[in-house]
Amino acid sequence: MKKTISIIALGIVATVFISAVLSSSEWGERDDDERYEKYHESEDHEYGSSRGGWLESGADVRAVGNETYQGECGGCHFAYQPGLLPGEDWERIMTSLDEHYGDDASLDETEAYEIRVYLLENAADQASLSRARAFSAGSVTGAGLPRITNTAYFRREHTEIPARFVRGNADVGSFSNCQACHLNADAGIFNEHQVVIPGVGRWDD
Ligand code: HEC
Ligand code: HEC
Repeated sequence: MKKTISIIALGIVATVFISAVLSSSEWGERDDDERYEKYHESEDHEYGSSRGGWLESGADVRAVGNETYQGECGGCHFAYQPGLLPGEDWERIMTSLDEHYGDDASLDETEAYEIRVYLLENAADQASLSRARAFSAGSVTGAGLPRITNTAYFRREHTEIPARFVRGNADVGSFSNCQACHLNADAGIFNEHQVVIPGVGRWDD
C-alpha cells in the first residue's frame, strides 16, 4: 500500500514538473515572437520612413548609401548592397580588384579605402536586417572569388528557377543581375512577391 501511494505521488510530481517545463517553453517562444515583431517594427520605422511608398514591404538589406561605391562598383553591374556578403568576403574582393572575375576593376587608393571601409561597416555580418543576416554565412566558393550567387542562402532561394529563365533568357543572362528580376533591388528589396522575370512574368510560387 505504501509503495502504491509513493508511486502515485511520484506520478503527480512528474506530471506537474513536465507541464511546468512545457508551459515555460511555450511562454519562451511567445516572448521570442514578440521580441521579433518589435524588432521588425523598429526596422520599418528606421529604414522605411526615408523610402515613403515602400514602408509596408520594408527592405531586406540596407540600400546603398555611399556615392563613391555606387559610382565605382555600380558601373559594370548592379551595385550589390554591402549586406549581401560578410566582411571577410568583401575583403577578398577588395584585395584583388585587378583580377576581378576576369575584369580589371582597379581603383585609386583613396577610393579603394573609402569603399572598403563602407563595405566592412555595412557587411552582412554587421547588419540587423533579417535577410542580410541570412547572407552573413557567406560564399561557399573554394579558391575563386566569393560570390553572392554562391552563398548557401542564395542557392536555397533560387533552386526552383529553371535555367531557361536565366541563362537561356537574353534579358537576364545570369543570376548576378539581381535587378533584372527583383523590381526594387535598388532599394534593397528582394521580397519574393516583387519579382517579375522578363518574358516570363510575375513569380507566383
Ligand atoms: C570593369 C567592370 C567592373 C567593375 C568596375 C566592378 N565589377 Fe564587380 N564584376 C564584374 C564582372 C564582369 C563580374 C562577373 C559577373 C558575372 O559573372 O556575371 C563581377 C562580379 C562581381 C561580384 C559577384 C556577383 C555574384 O555573382 O555574386 C561582386 C560581389 C562584385 N562584382 C563586386 C564589385 C565591387 C565591390 C566593385 C567595386 C569595388 C566592382 N564589383 C566593380 C565587373 C566589374
Ligand atoms: C532570374 C530572376 C532572378 C534573379 C536574376 C535573381 N533573383 Fe532573387 N529571386 C527570384 C525569385 C523568383 C525568387 C523567389 C523564389 C521562391 O520563392 O521560390 C527570389 C528570391 C530571392 C530572395 C528571397 C526573398 C524572399 O522573399 O524570401 C532573395 C534574398 C533574393 N532573391 C536575392 C537576390 C539577389 C541578391 C540577386 C542577385 C545577386 C538575385 N536575387 C537575383 C528571382 C531572381
